[in-house]
Amino acid sequence: MTATATLSSSEIPGLKLLHRGKVRDVYEVDEDRLLLVATDRLSAFDCVLPTPIEKKGVVLTQLSAFWFRKLANIIPNHLITADSAEMPEPIASDPRLAGRCSLVRRTEVIPFECVVRGYLEGSGWKDFKETGSVSGHSLPKCLTQCDRLLEPIFTPATKAPAGHDENITGLEFKAALGAETAAKLKSTSMKLYSAASEYAREKGIIIADTKFEFGTDSEGNILLIDEILTPDSSRFWDAAKYEPGHPQPSFDKQFVREYLETLEWDKTPPAPPLPPEIAEATSQRYLDAYFILTGKTL
Ligand SMILES: Nc1ncnc2c1ncn2[C@@H]1O[C@H](COP(=O)(O)OP(=O)(O)O)[C@@H](O)[C@H]1O
Ligand SMILES: [Mg+2]
Repeated sequence: MTATATLSSSEIPGLKLLHRGKVRDVYEVDEDRLLLVATDRLSAFDCVLPTPIEKKGVVLTQLSAFWFRKLANIIPNHLITADSAEMPEPIASDPRLAGRCSLVRRTEVIPFECVVRGYLEGSGWKDFKETGSVSGHSLPKCLTQCDRLLEPIFTPATKAPAGHDENITGLEFKAALGAETAAKLKSTSMKLYSAASEYAREKGIIIADTKFEFGTDSEGNILLIDEILTPDSSRFWDAAKYEPGHPQPSFDKQFVREYLETLEWDKTPPAPPLPPEIAEATSQRYLDAYFILTGKTL
């Protein structure tokens, strides 16, 4: 693969930009296909940082592609190719885009985040502390922060166009989607999490929780879409350092968060730049995660 410089924001002549997310830019290729471009933007404390993280977009794209291939026996997915050389011009010959693009089947997005949690952290831990349950699952009182759950739980959320996603109960999920689709998305999400988390755990990474998105294609088939099982869509922890009872260092953003905590920044935009050594160490963490999980370097 051609070496890529960092990319903070993409621009592709001739393709219509549909959406600029925190990290990814989405283009229309034609009626049936989209191009997802993972940039090197990094968000921390919900703010996008001004300093790009070298190779991050390539890692996110290639790690998702790895999982799509590995889990294709569970459900069909949207990925056509993540090899830029196989893509139409002008994508194929733009070195800034190499490795960071996913050419995908365009779907109608089912507007829910299908979250699976194997451990108690984030909004799950917050809800548990306040109510003793998480999205309608009542859990043993003795659980502490980051504890492993006896069984993974499904905790869907609405996909809010702006602001924060909102957790809903299984009953609300079923009421919105109908029993059949709700049951299919839930059981598929649980199977995907279970297969991926078992695999990752053998390699020394705990996938504490993750979220999946699904969409419907023009023939009515449900496909797994978006990115999957990346550090951006999941909580990755180093299994060797796992210790419940307090927050775990984030596999990928540990250095960034620790650095930002030393500043007097109030965690509202604009976020401060990162020193080069923090940006480089963070880039290395993404590459490490990719190598640990896939056995390959980029
Ligand atoms: N195959 C697909 N068909 C249609 N939309 C998709 C597909 N895959 C991903 N998307 C959508 O592309 C968008 C990617 O944006 P994202 O980078 O996640 O930004 P945001 O910060 O808005 O979530 C999401 O809204 C996701 O639902
Ligand atoms: Mg998203």
